[in-house]
Amino acid sequence: MGERPDVTIPVRDFLKQLGEEGIRKMVSRHYDLMRLSDIKHLFPESDEDFENAKLRSSDFMIQICGGPDYFNQHRGKPMMINRHAPFKITPQGRIVWLTCYRQALIETGLTETLICSFWEYINVFSAWMVNAEQ
Ligand code: HEM
Repeated sequence: MGERPDVTIPVRDFLKQLGEEGIRKMVSRHYDLMRLSDIKHLFPESDEDFENAKLRSSDFMIQICGGPDYFNQHRGKPMMINRHAPFKITPQGRIVWLTCYRQALIETGLTETLICSFWEYINVFSAWMVNAEQ
C-alpha cells in the first residue's frame, strides 16, 4: 500500500489500432464486468451515473494512450490518487479491477504485444490507487 512504482504509458500503436471508439468499447466492457464483480459496491448504482462513469474513464484512457486530452477538458487535472481517495481500494479490490480489465483487453482482439503494453500500464498504476489494507 502507498507504493508508487514508475509507470510506462501504453505504446502509441494501441490507440492507432483500436481507435477512440474501440477504447470506449473496451472501457464500457470493463465497467460492465465490474458491475458483476465483488467490487460493484464501489461504482454508481443508477444506469445514468454508471454510463457517465464509463465516459470519464474512457476520456482518461484515450488521453493516456496519446489521444486528445478529453479528460483534462471535462474534469481538469487527473490527480488520480485524490479522485480515488473517497473509495476504499484494497489489494484484493485491485486484483478484481485488473481481472475485469484482463477480460476486456482480451476481447479487443489486439495482438499480445499491444495488450501487454496496456496491461503493463494498468498493472503498475493501479498499485498507486490502493489506499486500504483490507
Ligand atoms: C486499483 C483499482 C481501481 C479501482 C478499484 C478503481 C475504482 C474507481 C472508482 C470507485 C471510481 C469512481 C466511480 C467512477 O467514476 O467510475 C473510479 C474513477 C476513476 N478511475 Fe479508477 N479505480 C482503480 C484504478 C484505476 C486506474 C489504474 C485508473 C487509470 C489508469 C483509473 C481511472 C479512473 C478514472 C479516470 C476515474 C474517473 C475519475 C473522475 O470522476 O473524474 N482507476 N475508479
